[in-house]
Amino acid sequence: MENIINVKHPLLTNLVSKLRSIHTNSYDFRKYLSEVGRILLVEALKNEKMKEKELEIWIGKRSFPVLEEEKYVFIPILRAGLPMLDGVLEMIPLAKSGFLAIKRNEETLESVLYYDRVPPLKGKIAVILDPMVATGGSLDYAINVVKEKNPERIISLNVIGAPEGLKRISEKHPDVQVYIAQIDEKLNDKGYIIPGIGDAGDRAFNTG
Ligand code: PRP
Ligand code: URA
Repeated sequence: MENIINVKHPLLTNLVSKLRSIHTNSYDFRKYLSEVGRILLVEALKNEKMKEKELEIWIGKRSFPVLEEEKYVFIPILRAGLPMLDGVLEMIPLAKSGFLAIKRNEETLESVLYYDRVPPLKGKIAVILDPMVATGGSLDYAINVVKEKNPERIISLNVIGAPEGLKRISEKHPDVQVYIAQIDEKLNDKGYIIPGIGDAGDRAFNTG
């Protein structure tokens, strides 16, 4: 699973442990998801190409490296991916955002797309945001939708994954770089990650 990058940092692990606690309220839950998103983005872009740009500074004009911020398109998968958007936009405020609403049927575990508001991606770097990769069905679906829009590159930022779902993504989409904070033990018979964080969408929006 070469394209699955398990990002290891005590600050990340600490945030994931806070997300796991059932005593974390939805306000803090969203805040921690946002912070995890920000840290994963830092890791994902650590070798990113930069462009020289002439800037006016206090001693005149000089060239300095800058990121092409408008080249990035953040794509949270609703609902649970939404809180991650705040964190990454703090880092790249001029990025664009697109939205995919994907809900898995809790009986069949099949993913259903309800809404696609992702802008054209030609020449762009698409960054998918979703805290959970359980069966991998939702991420697989999202990647397929994004691939149809022909981006230059696809990155996925995820908080917790099950080995089963990550294997599926790695096999079907070896060209997508997946940065994930934690790989947990397994799925239970209802397709929930064990130990996991429970239903991320419900916890983020207080509907459990
Ligand atoms: C959750 C989560 C992922 C998906 C993961 O969303 O945010 O999108 O489940 O499961 P999978 O890997 O088996 O597809 P959910 O469908 O519960 O929607 P929600 O965010 O609206 O709660
Ligand atoms: N969706 C979640 O929110 N949590 C899981 O553990 C699996 C799917």
